Amino acid sequence: MNPLQQEILELKKRKNAVILAHNYQVKEIQEVADFVGDSLGLSYQAQSTQADIIVFCGVHFMAETAKIVNPAKKVLLPDMEAGCSLADSCPASELAAYKARHPGVYVVAYINCSAEVKALSDVIVTSGNAEKIVRQVPADREILFVPDQNLGEWVTQLTGRPMRMWQGNCYVHIEFTHESIIKIRQEHPEAPLVAHPECTRAVRLLADEVCSTEKMIGYCRDHASKAFIIVTEAGMLHRLRRELPDKTFIAGPTDRCACAECKYMKMNTLEKLHETLLSEGPELIMESELREKARIPLQRMLEWSRN
Ligand code: 13P
Ligand code: SF4
Repeated sequence: MNPLQQEILELKKRKNAVILAHNYQVKEIQEVADFVGDSLGLSYQAQSTQADIIVFCGVHFMAETAKIVNPAKKVLLPDMEAGCSLADSCPASELAAYKARHPGVYVVAYINCSAEVKALSDVIVTSGNAEKIVRQVPADREILFVPDQNLGEWVTQLTGRPMRMWQGNCYVHIEFTHESIIKIRQEHPEAPLVAHPECTRAVRLLADEVCSTEKMIGYCRDHASKAFIIVTEAGMLHRLRRELPDKTFIAGPTDRCACAECKYMKMNTLEKLHETLLSEGPELIMESELREKARIPLQRMLEWSRN
């Protein structure tokens, strides 16, 4: 641990704060976090924490989710500008207009969306529980899946449930291409390839396993292979290397590089985290009416996910 990390740990203890970090955060932040995980695991942690302050090292929609499921806590995000291209691809006003044109449609929203979009949705999913949740949607309802068309397509493939797809995507995951993945497979023919469902169909078809970031840990732990190609945001490699130090993880390359980094996730730095704990800001503030509306589909997800 470096001196700044030590100070963060002391401040955290003194202020009874908990640091929740997504798997895509930089290594130094993952090292000081109380919990590192995927969107689903982080939602449960946010809901159950006894800490007074939640410092969310992730992106804006994740901090919003923490506030929605645990409104009495102070929720801090080291950089309020940490957004998400996928969440931006579904503005609430456009979803509201769609719903007005298609009354009765059942909206399943990937958690990577704004609180306003959640408030217009019937149930939320993460990549870790999407299949399970969609299987529980009443069979007589027509589904609109927002905002990730790739994840939605993957869920339809798993469940056989047709869904209308919002045409959104994650700018990081669509950078992996059929060609870049074929090339890395040829270089490491022995290594199973694990891809996130936000990747395009052309890439998912080349994968041995498609799953959420958390499930990648279990897959690689249980598999006999010593080496794996990981096709998702690069922060995941830190988590895998820390948890499974005896195995080798190869970064899935894009056509341009092997540095698939989410610029939003990387806006959080150790320095900003330190400053956030010191000043107890920036704090995520949400209107109670919006929070209450967005809580209903999120709560439904947390309950259905346990089924
Ligand atoms: P998971 O955390 O559900 O694996 O999703 C990855 C992601 O893109 C978060 O922004
Ligand atoms: Fe959004 Fe993609 Fe970044 Fe995840 S990796 S926060 S989906 S832009």
